[in-house]
Amino acid sequence: MRLGRGPDALIAAPAGFLWTAFEPSTHPPLARDLLNRAYADGGAAVRAGRDWWRETEADPEYDPKLCFIAVEAGSGRLAAFAQCWTSGFIKDIAVADTHRGKGLGAALMRRIFQTFQARGCAHVDLKVQVDNPSGAVHFYKSLGMTVVEEL
Ligand SMILES: CC(C)(COP(=O)(O)OP(=O)(O)OC[C@H]1O[C@@H](n2cnc3c(N)ncnc32)[C@H](O)[C@@H]1OP(=O)(O)O)[C@@H](O)C(=O)NCCC(=O)NCCS
Repeated sequence: MRLGRGPDALIAAPAGFLWTAFEPSTHPPLARDLLNRAYADGGAAVRAGRDWWRETEADPEYDPKLCFIAVEAGSGRLAAFAQCWTSGFIKDIAVADTHRGKGLGAALMRRIFQTFQARGCAHVDLKVQVDNPSGAVHFYKSLGMTVVEEL
């Protein structure tokens, strides 16, 4: 799926959540746990391997500034995570199941669109299974993304 434009205004986190800078020494295991829980029922690749983050960091399209974190405002617990490649591709995005439907995923996506727009990307891409059980296809379409290729 693809979006060919992005908003200009600063994107606020929904009430009860804060954006926080990605910290490579502490966030990857927390992000992996969140992704594994989020994807477990969807049959998507589970990032269980110990080498997952080492391989991610070694990728030529990796940039820590393209790892996005949202935490609960009170506890500081991880609430959402996204990791993108420099080519304008969203590799992973997930919201903790207890926090879905609160606008956090949409705010995170808009933040990603804004970041890539500032980098001069003409479009943002991702892959999603058409039968994603958490309604991700509808989610992406609600943000203005369009299907460019069906595999
Ligand atoms: C997809 C995901 C990131 C959405 O995050 P979220 O925080 O729940 O989404 P939001 O609350 O910001 O929803 C924004 C809009 O998306 C749409 N949407 C979100 N979840 C939906 C669902 N289950 N069914 C239909 N539409 C949905 C709605 O239009 C919603 O707008 P609304 O507020 O008018 O209802 C989240 O469900 C998730 O983490 N899923 C598991 C991991 C995953 O599959 N990631 C995608 C891999 S490609």
